[in-house]
This record gives sequence, structure tokens and C-alpha cells, in this order.
Amino acid sequence: MNRMRFLVTAGPTREPIDPVRYMTNRSSGRMGYALAGAARHEGHEVVLISGPTTLDVPPGVDFIHVETAQQMYEAVRDMVRDVDVAILSAAVADYRPVHVAQQKIKKSEGRVLLELERTPDILASMREEFSFTGVLVGFAAETQHLISNAREKLLRKGCDMIVANDVSQPGIGFGSTENEVTLVLPDREIQLPRESKEWLAMRIVEHALTLLP
Ligand code: PMT
Repeated sequence: MNRMRFLVTAGPTREPIDPVRYMTNRSSGRMGYALAGAARHEGHEVVLISGPTTLDVPPGVDFIHVETAQQMYEAVRDMVRDVDVAILSAAVADYRPVHVAQQKIKKSEGRVLLELERTPDILASMREEFSFTGVLVGFAAETQHLISNAREKLLRKGCDMIVANDVSQPGIGFGSTENEVTLVLPDREIQLPRESKEWLAMRIVEHALTLLP
């Protein structure tokens, strides 16, 4: 196999509320770091774009640290040229506060309303906005209708494969060491067993490579 160029997104994003508070989610980054490590292990060039995690960057992987969805969007846009396989596994915040307070918000007796707006959808920007023509692998974190929701994402976002995980099940998905995923392709589905994220990452990378022209 020739040396290919991979781009992987991983981890959560942090959307600031004020200088000391932010919105985030339970992603540890393990799935994405395992994907980056698996692609590198197979001899490919890898750039990993990650939100904040406590993980070590796999050896030999180029690394870009970001905090917000907007920063991840810009980093992917800037790095995507000449990439053969893009795997977007990050748990990007879908919403961010409209206003970021310059000073720490003081507590008061009443309720506080936080107005939120959509963040850019990086996966949905890949084909038209970023003109990406390589193999595009997205993830779907679902709590119901796993396969039909994943298939809808596959079509709507121009993906070649969606890695669907049921994040309502305990012990897999967000923050765990194991995962259980179904690879959703245009013409079929491949159910993989519950396994370590490292083992699954190797299978996902292998399948993604079979989709290269
Ligand atoms: O990090 P871990 O603890 O190891 O957990 C792994 C995981 C559960 C985070 C991972 O397996 C996973 O499911 N990642 C996708 C999480 C997610 O946000 O899913 P989604 O269904 O909301 O998003 C669908 C796809 O769009 C994903 O490829 C996501 O990266 C992408 N997306 C979403 C929002 C956005 N603004 N931009 C995006 O690119």
C-alpha cells in the first residue's frame, strides 16, 4: 500500500461562556487518537486535529491543538489539501454561546438564560466548502435509530462511510476504553464486535483504505 495522507479529528471542543467557564462534552479523545495511531502504525502520514484531552499524541503523528469548534473548522480547512482519507471522530459542540462575557459572570438570585447559536458543521463543509475529494469517514453518535440516522448522515454530508455508535449503551462510546460500532456504507453495513478502541481503529482504517479509488 502506498503511503497515504490521513487527517483525523478527535476529542471534545470547549465553547467559552466567560473567562472561567465553558460548554463541553464527555469525549476523551481515545477513539480519535487510536485512529491516528492506527493509520501511522500502517505507515501513513497523519495529522491529528484535537480538542483538549489528557492523552499523549501517538508517535510520528503531526498534531494541531484546538479549543473551539470554530478553531477546529479552520484547522481542518487549512490542512485538508492533499489529504487522501479524512476521519472526523471529534465530538464537536453543535452550539456555542452567542455572547462570551469578558468578565466572570457574577452569580445572582434569579435564573440565567444562555443564548446559543450553531457552530460550523465541519463534516458537512468537507465536500462543497473545502472541495475535499478523498475518502470521507464521519462518525454518528446516536441514542436511537442508530442505522437509519447514520445512513441519513452518510447521504446528507457526502460521506463514503459512517462509523455509527450507540452512545446510550453503558461502557462504550464517550469516555470509555471500548466501543461497539457499525460501519455504514452506501450499499451495506458491517457490524464490528465490542472491542478496544485501538482494535476498532485498525479495522476502521483498513476499511477506509479499501474505499480509495
Ligand atoms: O472521544 P472518546 O471518549 O473516545 O469517544 C468517542 C466518541 C463517542 C466521541 C466517537 O466515537 C464519536 O461518536 N464521535 C462523534 C461524536 C459526535 O459528535 O457525533 P454527531 O453524531 O453529533 O456528529 C456527526 C459527525 O459530524 C461526526 O463525524 C462529527 O465529528 C461531525 N461534526 C459534528 C458537529 C460539527 N459541528 N462538526 C462536525 O464535523
